[in-house]
Amino acid sequence: MTDTSTREILTERRDGVLLVRLHRPDKKNALTLAMYAALTTALEHAAGDPSVGVVVLTGSGDSFTGGNDIADFLAAPPTGVDSPVFRFLTALRQFEKPLLAAVNGVAVGIGVTLLLHCDLVYARAGAILLLPFVNLGLCPEAASSLLLPRLVGYPRAAELVLLGEPFSAEQALEWGLINGVGADAEATLELALTKARRLARQPAAVRLAKALLKRSESDAVRETMALESRHFMEQLRTPAALTALRAFVEHRRPGQ
Ligand code: COA
Repeated sequence: MTDTSTREILTERRDGVLLVRLHRPDKKNALTLAMYAALTTALEHAAGDPSVGVVVLTGSGDSFTGGNDIADFLAAPPTGVDSPVFRFLTALRQFEKPLLAAVNGVAVGIGVTLLLHCDLVYARAGAILLLPFVNLGLCPEAASSLLLPRLVGYPRAAELVLLGEPFSAEQALEWGLINGVGADAEATLELALTKARRLARQPAAVRLAKALLKRSESDAVRETMALESRHFMEQLRTPAALTALRAFVEHRRPGQ
């Protein structure tokens, strides 16, 4: 069965698995306010829909996502916890059913930090992941300042966050950030869907187990997300961020 919730977020439900696809391929699936809102709705509906046991996130075309739409950051920056991006992050953090990602191509910014809230992540061989927050005058979000060093160790997290160094799907696998690498986008999605179908057949105890696995860090994740969000909103108004973001939308590098 296929339903289309918005033009740029496509959902497809089959065998207890809801596949949610970021679908704005000409813009590398960069996330707009409307896309965050649709993603939040999709997660909230999935949470309450007994026919959905598992959610899988993926992207269209050659990218997972280029991250937050940079033009939106300039035109309509988040101003509070009710902003679409933070509502999405809250829905992600609170989602109780298994959540998987099939990273079919490049993943930037929130495209990487959202993976830290997924239970299983598969990525296409050679896919590049990047956390350019500091390079853009911004700071980490989605509790990545807490979760990333825990997963990959502080020295590596410092390279990825403070320098914004890109890394590959293969490195992410070696560092324990993801579960597996698929030969191409199709194989990656199939890896994720195979696990998702198995999870969908698990008893409801799978949700209890997920909650228990996450229990030790859930308060810290909530607090860190709130703290980062406040800093993020402040940073978005700084000259350094405005200059870097304008440079991207105007197709030029800072300083040129
Ligand atoms: N916001 C708005 N538009 C974006 C975008 C984003 N985050 N990411 C990509 N796009 C748009 C580009 O502006 C371009 O649009 P155009 O064809 O109208 O010029 C289109 O998507 C294709 O992107 P392009 O940069 O030409 O593709 P690429 O393959 O050379 O590079 C990326 C892909 C994702 C590495 C690169 O687009 C990029 O760095 N994006 C910005 C990532 C970012 O900083 N995100 C914010 C994190 S907080």
